[in-house]
Amino acid sequence: MEFKNEIGLIQRRMAASIAGTSRRLEILNALNIQSGQHVLDIGCGGGHLLEDIAKAVGPEGKAYGLDTSEDQLKQARKRCSSYKNVLTIKGYANQIGLQNNSCDSICSVQTFEYINDVDDSIKELTRLLKPSSIFVNISILWDYYKFFGADEVLNKTIHDTFKAHCFHQMLPTSLEGKLKKFGFKNIKHKPLPMFITNRDDNSPAKFAEEVIGQFAIQQGISETKVNEWKRQLKLAEDEGRFAYTNLPILTYAFIN
Ligand SMILES: C[S@@+](CC[C@H](N)C(=O)[O-])C[C@H]1O[C@@H](n2cnc3c(N)ncnc32)[C@H](O)[C@@H]1O
Repeated sequence: MEFKNEIGLIQRRMAASIAGTSRRLEILNALNIQSGQHVLDIGCGGGHLLEDIAKAVGPEGKAYGLDTSEDQLKQARKRCSSYKNVLTIKGYANQIGLQNNSCDSICSVQTFEYINDVDDSIKELTRLLKPSSIFVNISILWDYYKFFGADEVLNKTIHDTFKAHCFHQMLPTSLEGKLKKFGFKNIKHKPLPMFITNRDDNSPAKFAEEVIGQFAIQQGISETKVNEWKRQLKLAEDEGRFAYTNLPILTYAFIN
C-alpha cells in the first residue's frame, strides 16, 4: 500500500489521534531517550514521533526520520520545521544513508510489515546501531484487524481484499527469530490490544474503516459496496453491536 494522497492523509489523521498518541508513548517509554542521543525512526510518516524524538534528544542530539514517501516526508518536515536537530531521509529501510554505528537507538511503527525483505532491513539495523543499543518496533497482527456488525459475506469480502495491503500479515509472530538471526538478544514483546465500539470522528475504528474502505475501492470493489458496508457498520453501532479489534505488538531487542 502506498501512503500518498487520501490514504496518506487518513494515516496521518490516525497518527494524530489518541490511538497514535498512546502508541508513541509506548515507544518513547521503551526507548528511554537521553539528551544528545542520535535516534532513527524508520517509516516516520508525517513525523509525529519524530517531533517527540527531537524534543527528547535536545539540541545536541539528532532525530532522523526515514521514509520512502515524499508526501509523508513533506508533512514530517512541516511538522518538525522548528527543530534544527531533525534530519529527514528519503529512502528504503534496507539501505539507509547514515554511517556505521551512528544510532543510539532505532524505532519503527507499523512499517516493517510493508517491507518485502524484512531480513535485509534488520541487517541494516545492525550496521547502524551502536553496540548494546535498542531497536523498538510496533507491527500489527493483521489477522486480528477486524470489524464486527456488517453482513457476514460483505464483511469477509472487504477484509479478504485488505490482505493484499501489506507483505506480512503476522510479522510479530516471526520477528523474534529474524532478530536473533542477526545477533539481537533480550527480545521482549508487549501486546497493545484495542477493542473499540464507537465510530466517532476521533475513533481508531473510524480511521481504520476509512483506510480499509479506500483500499477496497483501489482493489476494484465498487464504491456502492463499500458504502453499504459502512452503512451496515453505522447501523450496528446505533444498535450497540459494532466492534473493531486490533492487536499491535511492541517488540524490543538489544544488539550485541
Ligand atoms: C502505516 S505508515 C506509519 C507511519 C508512522 N510510523 C506512524 O506510525 O504514523 C507506514 C510508513 O512506512 C513507510 N514505508 C513503507 N515501506 C518503507 C520502507 N521500505 N522503508 C522506509 N519507509 C517505508 C510508508 O511510506 C509510510 O509512511
